Amino acid sequence: MIGIFDSGVGGLTVVRELLRRSPDASFVYLGDTARLPYGNKSPETIVRFTLEDAAFLVAHGATSLVVACNTMSAHAVDALRKTYPALPIFDVITPAVRVASHLGAKRVGVIGTRATVASGAYDRLLEAQGIEVIARACPLFVPLVEEGWLDDGETKRIVKHYLSPVRQGDVDALILGCTHYPLLAPVIGRFMGRSVSLIDSGAVVVEELLKGVQLDSARQQSYFLTDRSARSEEIAQQWLKRPVNFDKADLLG
Ligand code: DGL
Repeated sequence: MIGIFDSGVGGLTVVRELLRRSPDASFVYLGDTARLPYGNKSPETIVRFTLEDAAFLVAHGATSLVVACNTMSAHAVDALRKTYPALPIFDVITPAVRVASHLGAKRVGVIGTRATVASGAYDRLLEAQGIEVIARACPLFVPLVEEGWLDDGETKRIVKHYLSPVRQGDVDALILGCTHYPLLAPVIGRFMGRSVSLIDSGAVVVEELLKGVQLDSARQQSYFLTDRSARSEEIAQQWLKRPVNFDKADLLG
């Protein structure tokens, strides 16, 4: 059973890709909506929350973990691997960097939460491949997605505000370094122009997962949130194109 987790509904972009590739895969999903956003929190808090989320999934039968959140991937993967040395653990950063490198990109934009950008995790890996990086934190994107404002006038203005320096930087590709951002891909793609490839860090991790673990295809699929709301269910249904019932998760803390 795969455990997939994010601070909110953003990780469902990973679930969507998994269901597209393997509709019968068994998984348990956790979104820590009660404590979202993680992207503005300190590294210590991000590590603590990540370990609590993972403990919940392991207690619910997860035998591999997909960290469907760049913020956690940037700060907490080492702590996770230390805590669960026997579990396959997939982060979203390494595969996105691999895609950028395969595309032959010379200059890449990276957008993410403040914590992801401040960690320098993408910069280190991309620069090691000889790729120049223009990174930009876009803290308002997560609340826009959680609100379902995916193509509103306000969203377009905020996209322009954050991404103008990246567009001026003449990048070949843009890494959507937050699993919430693929929901904004149409508006981001229009602003950046067709010549810029958008890399969805969530979609590429599914590729790695399918190569790395034997899937249990009993179609046991459960979804948990630490704070449930009708809005989250609407967004999930819109995104996954099927009704999603979230159960309430009580973390062990
Ligand atoms: N979806 C998370 C990520 O990929 C960020 C959301 C948050 O700030 O909590 O970084």
